[in-house]
Amino acid sequence: MVEVAESVAGVRASVDRARGEGRAVGLVPTMGALHDGHVRLIERCREEAGFVVVSIFVNPTQFGPNEDYTRYPRTFEADLARCRGAGAALVFAPTPEVIYPSGATSTFVEVPGLSEVLEGASRPGHFRGVATVVLKLFEIVRPDLAIFGQKDYQQQLVIRRMVNDLHVPVRIVTEPTVREADGLAMSSRNRYLDPAQRQTALGLFRALAEARRAVAGGETSADRVRQILRETLESSEGVRLDYAEVADGKTLEPIDRLGGGIRAVALVAAWVGSTRLIDNLALTE
Ligand code: PAJ
Repeated sequence: MVEVAESVAGVRASVDRARGEGRAVGLVPTMGALHDGHVRLIERCREEAGFVVVSIFVNPTQFGPNEDYTRYPRTFEADLARCRGAGAALVFAPTPEVIYPSGATSTFVEVPGLSEVLEGASRPGHFRGVATVVLKLFEIVRPDLAIFGQKDYQQQLVIRRMVNDLHVPVRIVTEPTVREADGLAMSSRNRYLDPAQRQTALGLFRALAEARRAVAGGETSADRVRQILRETLESSEGVRLDYAEVADGKTLEPIDRLGGGIRAVALVAAWVGSTRLIDNLALTE
């Protein structure tokens, strides 16, 4: 059985009860349309915490005015079944009014430095919306730990920075990206792709894999690796590149040379038809 709560008081009552039983509380924030990547996060959370809360909330403030907020897939009944199967105890499914009681004049959180580059440059205000909703979820659930996916590499860095800067007493865990058998990163937005686009979308992973192969083979010029990313992506017909970057895995600053103990990450974003996809891969350990 998985319990469902829609109110802050409902979540708190249920979390307090679990804590009274001595259970650690884990949180997996999601926007629903759950896939095996989300399920892995929930399972991981269950390994670390006796009481797992999954939040399902399509957060309006992290979508730009011309983005897919209204058409974002909403599959609540199937999501509940996945949460139950993965070992969640409570699903928190609030309305926007519960999360934003003051509406548009709500208090917001900014995480400067990490929020303006890459995803933040293409989606202004996106991380302000993400940081705000995640802090609210932390305040509502007060979890001991929270799990995020490496799939959204920049997002987990923004959350880690926010938690550190605001002294939020929660442990952040980042779980590796779950992929389809051919390498495509699982994403709720993959549902938008028709079969031909689904094949085209593999271009993102192919580019990242090419980049990693080059680095494993001794390539140390980050510009050369950026070129490999761009060329591989642009050689896939039907893919429109947004960005292809090689960055420091901690700061997201662009790097010049690979090696020298810096953890380098390749990050790409591209459009396949009207669907915007992102992916990333560590280039060095
Ligand atoms: P959503 O896209 O639903 O993702 C929820 C969590 O699942 C995020 O931490 C994301 O990184 C992780 N995830 C998505 N695809 C994954 C994959 N293929 N492998 C592993 N983990 C994956 O990210 C959000 O929602 C929102 O921004 C949110 C944090 C909930 C705030 O609204």
